[in-house]
Amino acid sequence: MANEKNFSVCYSDKLKRLPPYLFGAIDILKKAAYDKKLDVIDLGMGNPDLSTPKHIIERLCDTLGNHPRSHRYPQAKGMPKFRKTVAQWCKNRFDIELDPENEVLALIGSKEGIAHLCMAYLDSGDIALAPNPAYPVHFNGILLAGGTVYDLPLLPENNYLPDLGKIPEEIAIKAKLMFLNYPNNPTTAVVDNLDFFKEVVSFAKKYNIIVCHDNAYSELCFDDYNAPSFLQVPGAKEIGIEFFSFSKTYNMAGWRLGFVVGNAEILRPLEKLKSYLDYGVFTAIQLAGVCALKDSQECVKETVKIYQKRRDIMVKGLNKLGWQVKNPKATMYLWVALPEKYKHLSSLQFAELLIEKTGIAVAPGAGFGTYGDAYVRIALITHNNRFHDALLRLKKFLK
Ligand SMILES: Cc1ncc(COP(=O)(O)O)c(C=O)c1O
Repeated sequence: MANEKNFSVCYSDKLKRLPPYLFGAIDILKKAAYDKKLDVIDLGMGNPDLSTPKHIIERLCDTLGNHPRSHRYPQAKGMPKFRKTVAQWCKNRFDIELDPENEVLALIGSKEGIAHLCMAYLDSGDIALAPNPAYPVHFNGILLAGGTVYDLPLLPENNYLPDLGKIPEEIAIKAKLMFLNYPNNPTTAVVDNLDFFKEVVSFAKKYNIIVCHDNAYSELCFDDYNAPSFLQVPGAKEIGIEFFSFSKTYNMAGWRLGFVVGNAEILRPLEKLKSYLDYGVFTAIQLAGVCALKDSQECVKETVKIYQKRRDIMVKGLNKLGWQVKNPKATMYLWVALPEKYKHLSSLQFAELLIEKTGIAVAPGAGFGTYGDAYVRIALITHNNRFHDALLRLKKFLK
């Protein structure tokens, strides 16, 4: 009998639960613009345009050429040298104590770790709390694991911090995980001190919730702002873990390297799951990561200086055009409410219009969740001249 399965629709219900991929619509328009040989200024994806520092690349090449053992399967949880270096970096940077054996795990990028953590903890119908808007894996990871997302709205009137007091008691009692992310993608919000994190720790302890703080932008801070670690709060390690990434700090997005630190008991199921699914990070990349964390951090200062200059050009330029935007203290983005004239559009409609009329691609806020729909996110991922070009095009467009 002929196989009547329709492969285009018989994929898993878990995958079907994912919201539509809004960035796909922009990709199609971007491709159409490139096909027409239009000059596209792509400020959509958070994909760093700067190069990985030379000394890190050299370390990778040296390992590849001179250390054939590094070509073998790596240790899934991360090699001891990598975990020890991470613990020392966290001590130097945040003054937090970590046991490299049990409280540090290497990740194939923090996105991988977040998605797998959801799989390690959530069964069908389990509740997890996720910010809205959010970096998409914070909610998609929950959905893919079969869990139920409870939205924590991030609203400008609350400085884009979730209002924990608004979470109903019955939800808090059932929730297993809570995701947080400061400096925040996409809103660019930061915590000014540890007060909010302290509130989170007592809330999580009261309801026995695992806190997963995503600190992917910890090093991309401007002016004199310095992002804290969630684990600096006394007692945070009893209920929490924190994710870090090399992607933005060292412009290593394609290398796929990150780490998670914190409570050993919380990390164990993630380590177990990863040992079944992957062999961890290529040893040569882990050793390059060791070099990144241990060597001079001048390269990070240089990267921050470049993003800060771009931020200044764009924030000043947009405000001058009457498109009001706040000066972010961290990240590599601007989070901008739709201009007055276009407030009747959805963020996707606006982003589509923008690329059609100006060739500028931005990320529609709805791609980060329903609460993002009145905004677009502009990524600071091209050089200064291109931002000046973008501002000229926007001036025409907004008139
Ligand atoms: C908040 C946040 N977390 C994690 C990631 C992913 O980092 P990685 O490249 O380490 O997977 C990103 C990437 O944009 C991000 O914005």
